[in-house]
Amino acid sequence: MRKLTVYGGRRLFGEVPVDGAKNAALPLLAATVLTDDEVILENVPDVGDVHTMIALLESVGKRVQALAPDVYSIRTERGLSGIPPEGLVRKLRASFLLLGPLMARVGASQLPLPGGCPIGVRPVDLHLKGLKALGARIESQGGFWCARAARLHPAEIHLDYPSVGATEQIMMTAALVPGRTVISNPAQDPEVHDLARLLIKMGAGIMIEPGRLIIEGAKTLSGTVHTVIPDRINAGTFLIAGAIAGGDVTVRRCQPLHLEALLSKLDELGIIVQEHVESVRVISDGPGSFWGGRVEARPYPGFPTDLQPQMMALLSVARGSSVVKETVWESRFAHAAELVRMGARIRLEGATAFLEGVERLSGTQVSVNDVRAGAALALAGLVAEGTTVILDRDEHIRRGYRDLAGELNRLGAAIIEETSDEKEVVSPEVR
Ligand code: EPZ
Repeated sequence: MRKLTVYGGRRLFGEVPVDGAKNAALPLLAATVLTDDEVILENVPDVGDVHTMIALLESVGKRVQALAPDVYSIRTERGLSGIPPEGLVRKLRASFLLLGPLMARVGASQLPLPGGCPIGVRPVDLHLKGLKALGARIESQGGFWCARAARLHPAEIHLDYPSVGATEQIMMTAALVPGRTVISNPAQDPEVHDLARLLIKMGAGIMIEPGRLIIEGAKTLSGTVHTVIPDRINAGTFLIAGAIAGGDVTVRRCQPLHLEALLSKLDELGIIVQEHVESVRVISDGPGSFWGGRVEARPYPGFPTDLQPQMMALLSVARGSSVVKETVWESRFAHAAELVRMGARIRLEGATAFLEGVERLSGTQVSVNDVRAGAALALAGLVAEGTTVILDRDEHIRRGYRDLAGELNRLGAAIIEETSDEKEVVSPEVR
């Protein structure tokens, strides 16, 4: 159980470096099961979901060694197993990415039906459609999906929806299926392309075309070294923090190209945004100094759904009205109710939120049930009068952020983070 106590009203100044992307590191780690050779991954973020994926790799026979705090060597010590332990799999939805690669390597794999979560039902039909098209025999038995590599063959697969996970699952599996597999309507996210770059280094051929991904599979794949791309969602979270609190914040070691939808939106709201080669700077006067607007979360390169909650916090203290539409997940508005408890004026109609900006939010106790909602409430606490106590019972925030409170405090925020019975006083610098 973690508790963040946020003392509002402090502006943010300074620089924050961005870690490797969680949503790139997870498929990259999963892809290491495609070879027994050593794969070295650099710039791996120190977040809960990555720790769980590493434990999963070890549970199926991988030897994972930390060569440095963000560098891991992964190779096969003994034979691989296709059945990771249920308890670990249930801790991480992205573990489903192991179904196809393990099947392609050892002939069969079995994972429990991934459960839903607060943001949606999280179906896997597109994953299974792709694996079946590649020749896998898929059955569901007693709450588990079983995949058997009857006779794998290349295929042409159309995704009804550009699912990130399904694209990654099919791409990884097809990389071990000799011949030419084509995915049409694939996800185009930077994390998907980072995975493609790793698979190419391992010996697969991958071409990225408009609306298509072409994979030339190989009989075997080999080890390599790969650096994880920067986390665009964490970069965006710190940029929105600077915008909402007011001040002058530079996010370093990020790729502005991956943030275009956010940067143009912040600019449209009247916030000063300066792009540099590997950093972005925002300058803001805080609540009421920027306009409201319309944000629509869509598949990449549209506005990222993983920044929608943080954007809603920003728009709750904008001047004028705003509309936030969520088209990716069917129920990703849980943070709206918590923001309303802090004094935000939000009305929900299905997948659309209508906001009227308020001068100030007021601190209260709020709870977190999703990693990005937690970040959004921390940002709202920065501009709330008094203190905001964020109860994060399942440590969601740490699943996606190495040290959100610490990084915000280094920019001038005043957040105390406590875990269960010990009080870690993160001493806020007085500015
Ligand atoms: C990835 O999830 C990210 N997670 C999510 O980030 C992110 O929100 C999402 O992509 C969208 O960008 C990781 O990369 C580990 P999807 P994923 O498959 O792959 C539907 C975070 O906070 N769908 O693109 O699960 C699904 O219901 C997390 O870091 C199907 O219908 O997302 C949803 O409406 C949260 N059938 C939409 O597609 C399928 O088989 C997007 O899902 C698969 C998905």
